Amino acid sequence: MKLHTAAPAKKLASTGLLVLFAHEGSKPELPDGVKVAPGAFDEFKGEFREARVADAVAGPAKRVLAIGLGKKDALDAERIRRVAAIGVQRAEGLGAASATFVANGLALDPAGGAERAGTALAEGALLGAYKFEKGKSQSKEAKLKSTTLVGGGAPFARGAERGEITAAANAFVRDLQNQPANVLTPRELAAAAKGLAKKGRITCRIVDEKEMKQLGMGLLLGVAAGSRQPPRLVHLVYKPKGRSRGKVALVGKGLTFDSGGISIKPSAKMDDMRFDMSGAGAVLGVFHALGKLDVPWEVHGIAPCTENMPGGAATKPGDIHTAMNGTTVEVLNTDAEGRLVLADALCYVVQKVKPDTILDLATLTGAVVTALGHEIAGFFPTSERLRDELVAAGDETGERLWPLPLLDFHKEAMKGLYADLKNISGGDMGAGSSAGAAFLAPFVGETEWAHLDIAGTAYGGSARDWVGGPTGSGYGARLLVRWLETRK
Ligand code: BES
Ligand code: MN
Ligand code: ZN
Repeated sequence: MKLHTAAPAKKLASTGLLVLFAHEGSKPELPDGVKVAPGAFDEFKGEFREARVADAVAGPAKRVLAIGLGKKDALDAERIRRVAAIGVQRAEGLGAASATFVANGLALDPAGGAERAGTALAEGALLGAYKFEKGKSQSKEAKLKSTTLVGGGAPFARGAERGEITAAANAFVRDLQNQPANVLTPRELAAAAKGLAKKGRITCRIVDEKEMKQLGMGLLLGVAAGSRQPPRLVHLVYKPKGRSRGKVALVGKGLTFDSGGISIKPSAKMDDMRFDMSGAGAVLGVFHALGKLDVPWEVHGIAPCTENMPGGAATKPGDIHTAMNGTTVEVLNTDAEGRLVLADALCYVVQKVKPDTILDLATLTGAVVTALGHEIAGFFPTSERLRDELVAAGDETGERLWPLPLLDFHKEAMKGLYADLKNISGGDMGAGSSAGAAFLAPFVGETEWAHLDIAGTAYGGSARDWVGGPTGSGYGARLLVRWLETRK
């Protein structure tokens, strides 16, 4: 589907479906010349997500769809994104080849409202229309070919243009996530990262197995040991146009498949473990957007990519491996592999990149799905500044975050009996997500850091209309772009 923007005109161009928005308690305002049967919208209340379609009896539109925005003071970017997604999904369902969204007057408070509305509307329309058909021998073509957003002013158009960039980044992530693990191998994931270095001010270096051995990445190699697929570590770099405000490292867990290894997972839904590369996907997605927009930070994207498989050479429970910084780790459960590959990636970042701030994204624990479900990610920020910035960015992009505790006793619980650390906490501590974060903490040291556990938000049934199904959601890329753009 192609997206267009247009300034409001006296005469509406012809369209298959005209989409109008109205707040609770108000009726859709029909543009000049558009007529529907009298009383067609009498029952329409304008409640959030309410959608009512009427045939047009005269004028340039075949049909008119009224969508409720809900209470005026509850309108935010995510509500706009969701109603836009509903708009395109209904248009597709009705078989319309074109749709026109009338969005003049749709603005968000406070400052920057028109621009933010433009972004949310464009994102909602494009994200809502996303389909993954690569695995089908005969892919179904979308009926809806073009959607026009009618809105006034340069800020709205600028916002919509930005929305196209971030929506394309989201789709890029989802395409990576949804591929099965026999297609998206660690090497393929690294190749996708390499492909991003052709645009803008982005370079990419891939660390292969041989170099991993030289660097002493025993934890990453230990996870990869049971697989026929060789591991890769992606290192992307973005340099800003003007002076850099500082150096940020984004680290993403890139398990292209997590069987659990020798501590093998149950078979139900094991295919979902294709999504265990979603952190890496999100990091690559940020660079997809950075190919087209500028942020005032030097950004490094690091993604340890591997499979976690059982095999004759696989790591066994109790095996001890040594991290790049010399820390020894007993692997008591080979299914707690994400923290192992991230630990070596964090060592690499601290030693080679020396950033001011580190964010890592990982589908790290089932516990975070239990605690927060599929709509909210758990995160562990080391500064209040980072906490507030990330919560604000997530509220804006509809990729919400909730802070979780990481205290000294959690770190204490990760001390090993036979080695420096163990990869699961002992006894009956529980708090699985905090334990995962606590394992990572010593590898970060004193650098400002936030660990984002995205196991719930990366995929799975979601109430957010723009996600559109139980497949990959592309969580994180838009969030991080927003954070990089707005960080002071
Ligand atoms: N990739 C999984 C976490 C996960 C679970 C992601 C469900 C998405 C949905 C991770 O590698 C894992 O297996 N974690 C274990 C850790 C445990 C062994 C300490 C878990 O959460 O069960
Ligand atoms: Mn695992
Ligand atoms: Zn995993």
